Amino acid sequence: MTLEEKLGQLTQFTPGKKDLPALIAQGRVGSVFGTGTSDDVNALQRVAVEQSRTKIPILFGHDVIHGWRTIFPIPPAIASSWDPRMAELAARIAAREARSAGLRWTFAPMVDIARDPRWGRIAEGAGEDPFLGSAMAAAQVRGFQGSDVLACAKHYVAYGAAEGGRDYNSTDMSERMLRQVYLPPFKAAVDAGVGTLMSAFNALNGVPTTANRHTLSDILRGEWKFEGFVVSDYDAVVQLIPHGVAATAQEAAIKAISAGVDMNMVDDSYITLAEAVRSGKISQSVIDTAVRRVLRAKIRVGLFTDPYTDSSREAAAMLTKENLDAARQVAQKSIVLLKNDGPLLPLSKTARTIAVVGPLGDSQEDMLGPWSALGKKEDAVSVLEGLRAKVSPATRLLKATGEDISAAVAAANEADVTLAVLGEARGMSGEAASRVSLDLPGSQQQLLESLVATGKPVVLVVMSGRPLTIGWAAEHVPSIVWAWYLGSQSGHALADVLFGDVNPSGKLPVTFPRSVGQIPIYHAHLRTGRPPEPDDKYTSKYLDSPNEPLFPFGFGLSYTKFAYRNLTIEGMTASAEIQNVGDRAGEEIAQFYIGDPVASVARPVKELRGFEKVALGPGETKRVSFTIQRDALAFWSDSGWKVEPGTFKVWIGPSSAEGLEGSFELGQ
Ligand code: NOJ
Repeated sequence: MTLEEKLGQLTQFTPGKKDLPALIAQGRVGSVFGTGTSDDVNALQRVAVEQSRTKIPILFGHDVIHGWRTIFPIPPAIASSWDPRMAELAARIAAREARSAGLRWTFAPMVDIARDPRWGRIAEGAGEDPFLGSAMAAAQVRGFQGSDVLACAKHYVAYGAAEGGRDYNSTDMSERMLRQVYLPPFKAAVDAGVGTLMSAFNALNGVPTTANRHTLSDILRGEWKFEGFVVSDYDAVVQLIPHGVAATAQEAAIKAISAGVDMNMVDDSYITLAEAVRSGKISQSVIDTAVRRVLRAKIRVGLFTDPYTDSSREAAAMLTKENLDAARQVAQKSIVLLKNDGPLLPLSKTARTIAVVGPLGDSQEDMLGPWSALGKKEDAVSVLEGLRAKVSPATRLLKATGEDISAAVAAANEADVTLAVLGEARGMSGEAASRVSLDLPGSQQQLLESLVATGKPVVLVVMSGRPLTIGWAAEHVPSIVWAWYLGSQSGHALADVLFGDVNPSGKLPVTFPRSVGQIPIYHAHLRTGRPPEPDDKYTSKYLDSPNEPLFPFGFGLSYTKFAYRNLTIEGMTASAEIQNVGDRAGEEIAQFYIGDPVASVARPVKELRGFEKVALGPGETKRVSFTIQRDALAFWSDSGWKVEPGTFKVWIGPSSAEGLEGSFELGQ
């Protein structure tokens, strides 16, 4: 291969690139992202295979975040299931549909830990916790890569800690925080065999992650032995110039590839590396190493054996019954019941009149959430449609969008029960969708207060890509269902839960703040030398808010109740009994936390170290057991991972804020 052909393998363009087929014929393109159908893919592939000198096929990729045509719930919703099998199932189906359209590379999973709901991209990941996040990351990698598809763990790394929650902003954190919190889901993806990683937009401790040797070379290649390739994020290589670490495109390209970014997404700065090699600014071997990694990935997904995709199978692969059933099942498990006084839920299928109020009540498009690939709103089931399919023919369903509050109030007055379906329009979260207010948007708060003022029962259903500050609702609305965005089958899955055909079992994968002023707020926080004391002003607290969140990490209710009893610790195994003390079958997600009260460095109050979902019939009891691995006790010290002997605390319980408590001693 010529040097230019090699650099071509390291360059990715979109179909919008001017003269793309000609560039492909010249061997100047190794990857394309953003095609729609297998015909588009085959047409460009034919140019690569039949007209270019090297005949090297193109690797086609796309953002397949939570579905291709069948849209699954958004990632924090799937994480709310605390069921890695759901994440794996969703990823497998998404990859299968995408593969039928010629794609062999998903720009997913997004495994960024996010502890700041102002950041819109919290909608793409598994939430705040590295243990849950790692389980979801590994499951998604297994799912996406089930056949001849490569997954891509992104955005490497610490992008979720952008200052102020503002997208693309910088991150500054200790090595300990990086190692203990932000890196583990990437490590889990690497251990699960992920084929590629994407570097991020942010700078980390002053060094942009797209030019960061510490993370890309020392850790990823040196410590973790990652053998796949790294792609930059969109234009992130030339963005080293506005970051202020390169003066020219060539300098940016040299920094990125030398740090370990093998492929350049979209900007064409890697072509400047030809002159850099010829003038001795960079060694040829750096380029060769990157090219080898990319070619190995192409071999891995079978491109050299069969570069084309059979278009005749594409249509039949989309939106199959199997795929839609899976989307509905995953959606059912993603729903979190936050409050149920009365209890008002489940609703009766023979209710006479139900009012469905609010901008999201009959929206199909918003059900898809951000990053919905080829998902079409026509294929999505709105809440109203889902209810209609469930209730008896005698039930009247009234609809009011809520723009006209008096019309909405009139509908509520006429109904036995009102479902207020509120939250964010789907474009309000995702990339470049940071917000400083997490209140219900527009006049929705006023609408909700007017509905509650009717004195009629109100169920609040919230759809959103991020936690919202719903403190007023938590106090005044009897029942609250957190639905995130549930994808193609949204309305059906919600109706299944609202009418009790499915007992909700989801738990929050992220802490819900009372107000934006509490952010950052997350369960595994450090201690303080002045813990809050109500009667002592000079302790760690606010003058105008409790420290506690509105809803803690791991919280979620069921239509039944569970009791935790008899915690025992034998050897390195902790266990407890869980009994279903209500009158209907349900699933409970038992959580296992460990705390290290005295160590040579300050440790978080508790850290999630295990979870298990148990299905229990009425009255039934089961014991859950968690084996304590030594790794689970380690922290990052100045000399690397370290476990110190001493007393550890453990909790087994229904959330990060409750549980049975015990302790054990770890010897030398
Ligand atoms: C920018 C986003 O940060 C990244 O997640 C995505 O994969 C690329 N754009 C391509 O769309």
